[in-house]
Amino acid sequence: MHLFSYHNPTTIFFGKGQIIAIRQAIPEHYKVLVLYGGGSVKKNSVLDQVRAALNKHTFLEYGGIEPNPTYENLMGAVELARREGLDYVLAVGGGSVADGAKFIAAAVPFADADAWDIVEKHAPISKALPLACVLTLPGTGSESNSGAVISHAKKGVKIPFSNALLFPKFAVLDPTTTFTLPARQIGNGVVDAFVHILEQYVTAPEQAMVQDRYAEALLRTLIDAGPQTLQHPLDYEARANFMWAANQALNGLIGAGVMHDWSTHAIGHELTALYGVDHGQSLAAIQTQSWQVRRKAKRAKLLQYAERVWHLPLVDEESAIDQAIEKTAVFFETMGLKSNLKNLGVSQEAATLISQRFQEHGQTALGERGDVTPAVVREILTLSLQ
Ligand code: NZQ
Ligand code: ZN
Repeated sequence: MHLFSYHNPTTIFFGKGQIIAIRQAIPEHYKVLVLYGGGSVKKNSVLDQVRAALNKHTFLEYGGIEPNPTYENLMGAVELARREGLDYVLAVGGGSVADGAKFIAAAVPFADADAWDIVEKHAPISKALPLACVLTLPGTGSESNSGAVISHAKKGVKIPFSNALLFPKFAVLDPTTTFTLPARQIGNGVVDAFVHILEQYVTAPEQAMVQDRYAEALLRTLIDAGPQTLQHPLDYEARANFMWAANQALNGLIGAGVMHDWSTHAIGHELTALYGVDHGQSLAAIQTQSWQVRRKAKRAKLLQYAERVWHLPLVDEESAIDQAIEKTAVFFETMGLKSNLKNLGVSQEAATLISQRFQEHGQTALGERGDVTPAVVREILTLSLQ
């Protein structure tokens, strides 16, 4: 385990009826920008609950944040906030709305240059508006981390960025807000959270016993609670466990002091930018192929994953790894997602195209060991497209 500092400042209000906590959590002098997506929060009355909680505050609303939020759209909210002097951003929705809120919070005070520089050029920011989140779709973990992924529609790119100033002040996790999720988004959310854990756990052994055991507990929770959530849409406990596991998967805890991979995410973002594949689906389609291609480098952790997460005997080690990979693919399919790129509208040229884009952008050494070169990316995609 290497040196680390761990700090997560986001307060969590967890459970049914917690939206009212917003009233005390946002000091009354703030003028709040309430940000939401395409309208699900209107249909399920989550927005009404937020409005009621804010009835002592001054606030304005900005809706229409799309999945994979775009710079172009978000700049509309930035202009509104600047014009009206709004100084607190409250995201009400899934990861896209939360990520959009982070971009807006950083962009509003960044008045002297194009705010896209914050994303693409990692332009330093010295201040940001405070932000918070009422989460309606568990999965990304964005509600209590400092990262965001923003798309630029005109440039056809999707790029992650992060800044410690962008941790939400608080997040409301009320599992009942998720009851209206369509099956497709439950699948996306469960698999996204699952892969977040894999990116921080299936790397190489580092004697990080707490991080490993906690990662395994979260994986097992998702293996149980994910299908329960799909099968029993009104099961509060299943949703609550899914929501909490997804939050813990990417709040910094299991990733402290250990290596990270994140190459599945890097490839997934390209699949979304180029072919519009949902984020969770993009990961499900390449995760097991990545393991096949990088099987040797990840061998020790794949064996640990096979034994501790899937309870497979290690008598025949190669067979245990095969079975663990197969069980992972079946889990993705059980969650209603595809475990490869067939029939997802991704052309055969994707393997060459995406590996070229990595080459052009200098992303030539991805993964925990820097051994995921553009050639390896091409191999992974080719295997998934076969
Ligand atoms: O837009 P509305 O009408 O609200 O509908 C949304 C949207 O169509 C719907 N939805 C959300 N909550 C609902 C609901 N429908 C019914 N009932 C509810 N309670 O779900 C659809 C997808 O929403 P979105 O926010 O796009 O999904 P998700 O939470 O999966 O977020 C995906 C985005 O987060 C980024 C992804 O790249 C992607 O852009 N990520 C952010 C991360 C982070 N900040 O740490 C990490 C992740 O790896 C990920 O990259
Ligand atoms: Zn993700």
